[in-house]
Amino acid sequence: MRRAPRAGPVPSTSIQPAEARCFRFGTGSGGDRALFEAIPHRQSTRADYDGSTLSRSDLRLLSSATTVPGGDLVLVTERPQMERLRDLILAGNTAQIGDPAFVAELKHWLRFSPNVALRTGDGLFSAASGNPALPEWMGPWLFDRVFTVKAEADRYARQIATSAGIAVVVGAEANPEHWVKVGRACQRFALQATALGLKCSFLNQPVEVPGLRADLASLVGLPGRRPDIVMRFGRRAALPFSARRSVATVMVSAASAGILPARPAM
Ligand SMILES: Cc1cc2nc3c(=O)[nH]c(=O)nc-3n(C[C@H](O)[C@H](O)[C@H](O)COP(=O)(O)O)c2cc1C
Repeated sequence: MRRAPRAGPVPSTSIQPAEARCFRFGTGSGGDRALFEAIPHRQSTRADYDGSTLSRSDLRLLSSATTVPGGDLVLVTERPQMERLRDLILAGNTAQIGDPAFVAELKHWLRFSPNVALRTGDGLFSAASGNPALPEWMGPWLFDRVFTVKAEADRYARQIATSAGIAVVVGAEANPEHWVKVGRACQRFALQATALGLKCSFLNQPVEVPGLRADLASLVGLPGRRPDIVMRFGRRAALPFSARRSVATVMVSAASAGILPARPAM
């Protein structure tokens, strides 16, 4: 499933500062069908990949599909640069696991059993990360014993060593409008990767730990900018999918919620 992205305007989105989390969608020519069809197949695949590399044409396709005005994508595929990036990710891992608030929040989002994952419809289901499903009472007990800086560092190092590359998305500016543009670039990247039969997963530690952002920006050749997303990509079989909530439970139309007047039909 491979197709060059179609050129043309993308639907416009504007965010009004007073309307937090409210988006007005404009009209556009429609997106690329291959990306649309990839939506149900996309998943965060937090496991080792097969270590294979990508052709130049696949890398070009990933790059052009992700291009969104207001966001830059840097694809890191040379091993020495990937290893420098790995070191920043591991430094972020050490900082985060040393932070009790981070660990408490992570634990809060873990779902160890299929029952709880399906009931809540959210969170990180252990089987979706390649780990065994467990009785819910046993999960936190085991987590406290196996979740260490070294175990996580070894896991991330292996995941990076078996990836074909790492994508870094950097907004042109650090404000909500550009964070939405970055989110759009990030989803387009993940969908184009999926359309190419690739898997992705986030490695955002050097973005989430503020002291590492400047080093990350320099590493990807954009010193002084604020990187927003780090995502590795490569090939492997799919893992079980994360639970999904229905669209109606996470999104309402502003008109139906009485926030905005309904738009006249065009
Ligand atoms: C903006 C953003 C940042 C994310 N950061 C991380 C991350 O740092 N680590 C991680 O493992 N997953 C991260 N995720 C992935 C979510 O945990 C994941 O999308 C969610 O569990 C649903 O799974 P799915 O991607 O397979 O649909 C991030 C997702 C988004 C949208």
